[in-house]
Amino acid sequence: MFTESRWQKINAYARERVSGNDSYHDIEHTLRTADTAIRLAVAERADRGICWAAAMLHDICKKEQGDHAAEGAKLAKRFLIDIGVDEQTAERVRDAIHFHNKDFDSTAPIERQVLWDSDKLYIETPEGFRKRMLPYWIMRKGRKAGIETAVEEYYFYKARFHTKTAIKEAGKCEKEMEQVIAGLKAEV
Ligand SMILES: [Fe+2]
Ligand SMILES: [Fe+2]
Repeated sequence: MFTESRWQKINAYARERVSGNDSYHDIEHTLRTADTAIRLAVAERADRGICWAAAMLHDICKKEQGDHAAEGAKLAKRFLIDIGVDEQTAERVRDAIHFHNKDFDSTAPIERQVLWDSDKLYIETPEGFRKRMLPYWIMRKGRKAGIETAVEEYYFYKARFHTKTAIKEAGKCEKEMEQVIAGLKAEV
């Protein structure tokens, strides 16, 4: 399964692969997602190794055309098998990565739910929203459209968290986020 040397190989490979990603999906995003994934995995009794590996590898095809989750999932599985991870574990990582940009319900494997939620939780906080989400969309679309898209995404993801832990955490910042959003709406 996941030995110390495999952890290191996954870490090095993830860093190399995400190095050319856009400013939002950089190594900081990967490491934050992995930290959150471990925390959610413990709270939700999911497999910590699978959640961590899936989080580390989830955006390795972000800079490529097409469905980055489907492509990243296949590449991650091949990589894990190459470094000696067993087929069943590699397949569970593949599943989580494949679905991290897709809809599914709460009957899905818990590791899939944990990755999806870990990937999106930061943008539900005032810090994540202001620091990463807002500049990302403003840079891509300009001030007015960027603010509108960031706000739309905030609500889109907020309604879709799967695990009890993530739903609770996203709800903690609700009031502060309403103020942030009201301020932005007054601006556009
Ligand atoms: Fe992604
Ligand atoms: Fe991501």
